[in-house]
Amino acid sequence: MKKVLAVLLVLAMSMMMFTGCGSKKEDEKVYKIGIIQLMEHPSLDTIRESIIEGLEDEGYVDGDNIEILYQNGQNDMTTMKNIAQTFVGEECDVIVAIATPAAQAALSETTDIPIVFAAITDPVDAGLVDSLETPGGNVTGTSDEVSAEMIMNLAKDIDPDFKTIGALYNTGEDNSVSVIAGLKEYAEANGFKVVESTVTNTSEVQQAAQYLADKVDIVFSPIDNTVASSMAVATEIFNGAGIPFYVSADSMVKDGGLATYGIDYTVLGKETASMIADVLEGGDPATMAVRKMSDMKVYLNTETAKALNLEIPADVLEKATTFPE
Ligand code: TRP
Repeated sequence: MKKVLAVLLVLAMSMMMFTGCGSKKEDEKVYKIGIIQLMEHPSLDTIRESIIEGLEDEGYVDGDNIEILYQNGQNDMTTMKNIAQTFVGEECDVIVAIATPAAQAALSETTDIPIVFAAITDPVDAGLVDSLETPGGNVTGTSDEVSAEMIMNLAKDIDPDFKTIGALYNTGEDNSVSVIAGLKEYAEANGFKVVESTVTNTSEVQQAAQYLADKVDIVFSPIDNTVASSMAVATEIFNGAGIPFYVSADSMVKDGGLATYGIDYTVLGKETASMIADVLEGGDPATMAVRKMSDMKVYLNTETAKALNLEIPADVLEKATTFPE
């Protein structure tokens, strides 16, 4: 009788292991997720943190059933390609790429391992997908597309008294080039003049901003990683010259830009996490449409408005999320 009991016990225990009873599933696969982030600036950090939180919400916990390998690309293409190669060598189940150049670097190193990107302004122009609806390859993810026209309409609501728009951006970022194309179209159709001042890296931002300071009525920057990481330098010049500086991301407003009409990057991070989960569960990026964020909000820096002596109209103030918090 004892023997029968012992056999039953062993049987029951092994069944528990196979069906995954108990707190930790011993036979569960641990997925490897390689995260490659262009550089560290507040917006990209927020996205990464929110992806990791979102993965937890989906049941994927680092150190439990997933292993997250995170590396920051130091804003350098060669570094990012090396990171992507490491992830390929590690046989990651999915590579997560935050910002356009990071996704481009990842794609250059693998067309097999699924790549889920986060916050890519224009994935088609960046050469990452065939179309938003049907990406066609091993790459899909979330887009943070913004409209220069909507931001200029916000500028008009705040103070319609401008004719010349300065455009400050990095020509090497496809994400910026695409938004600036929209700005130029808008300006042409509405009788505004655009003065461009472009950079190739952060060390040029000060001079490029200075160049615009006595030539334009307002300045606009797209969702540009280089400008986003040099906000202190840019806002000091523009606030000093009394020029409203319109930007394209909440973090850039938080860092001293006057205002934007943009998306919530915490929501974008969660959305990206849900796509990563879909891929881990067997989804094919080729047929998973790129997701865009539909919920756009006005972000306004009241301290910057004060520095510029700008009276913000009540209807704008009412709908705005304001900084400092
Ligand atoms: N959209 C940018 C890209 O495609 C990345 C990005 C996300 C970003 N949030 C930002 C850039 C905020 C500047 C500021 O590369």
